[in-house]
Amino acid sequence: MSRLTGRTVLLTGASGGIGAALCDALVAADAWVIAVGRDAARLDAIAARHPPGRVSVVQADLATDAGRDALVASVSRRDITPSVLVLAHAMGGFGLFEDQSAEALRALVDTNLTGALLLIHALLPTLRTHPRPAVVAVGSTFGSLAFPGFAAYSATKFGLRGLMEGLSREHADSGLRFQYLSPRATRTAFNTPQAEAMNREMKVAQDDPDAVAARLVAAIADGRRRLQIGWPECLFARLNGVLPGLIDRNLRGQLAIVRRHART
Ligand SMILES: NC(=O)c1ccc[n+]([C@@H]2O[C@H](COP(=O)([O-])OP(=O)(O)OC[C@H]3O[C@@H](n4cnc5c(N)ncnc54)[C@H](OP(=O)(O)O)[C@@H]3O)[C@@H](O)[C@H]2O)c1
Repeated sequence: MSRLTGRTVLLTGASGGIGAALCDALVAADAWVIAVGRDAARLDAIAARHPPGRVSVVQADLATDAGRDALVASVSRRDITPSVLVLAHAMGGFGLFEDQSAEALRALVDTNLTGALLLIHALLPTLRTHPRPAVVAVGSTFGSLAFPGFAAYSATKFGLRGLMEGLSREHADSGLRFQYLSPRATRTAFNTPQAEAMNREMKVAQDDPDAVAARLVAAIADGRRRLQIGWPECLFARLNGVLPGLIDRNLRGQLAIVRRHART
């Protein structure tokens, strides 16, 4: 019996590469899943892989007030409300900052940071009606180590990490857990062909989404506060905190590669 047995998990980004694998791994751990995304057909296909009722689907655009309000209303109408919120939705954003439009930057922040923050805020009262509630944010290596070509995306993930750290400290004397769990590069549609080509040239390792989901579900069940998947990513993420100049120098040497792919 897993520590997720019988628990209801609200999973955002369930139609994505890591999210779909997470949905399967959560069901395998005996949880019930409310799968959230915008792509209804993809969500229905994921739900159909599981016994009827095990995965229910809610279509919502989390970058908008209306989308979040509709999701919260739909959750509150349920007989059994979620005790675990897993935030696995996000937009990518590979490109040079000055080449990105103000609209694209706003959408990135609205989706990855504001959407996540306001959804946590709206769902906390519901989560807290359960014993051992948890909020889990799927972060990124770039939430600890900002990368050229991903400046705005890194900003959203740094923000998310700060939010989870602050909330965890604010609730340190309660049973409410806040977990920030970071994959490294993972083979999903999240990475544009340009980002994939850059990763290949820079010899960045890429994980399989099922393997990432297995690590994330184990960390959720164990209540781990923080996780950085991958070596040397876990070393570099820590090093950036204590000796950022070292990382500056290393990335300065790779800047021409980043610029070339970002401008392709
Ligand atoms: N893949 C990587 O290399 C990698 C590395 C480190 C961290 N991560 C993180 O891992 C998480 C999952 O990434 P992934 O690889 O699974 O990405 P993905 O395949 O691109 O999936 C992204 C998911 O986010 C959802 N989404 C995006 N905008 C949304 C919005 N406005 N409202 C509601 N849902 C929205 C998408 O839903 P629809 O498609 O239904 O719109 C989709 O389910 C993200 O937090 C990402 O930052 C990924």
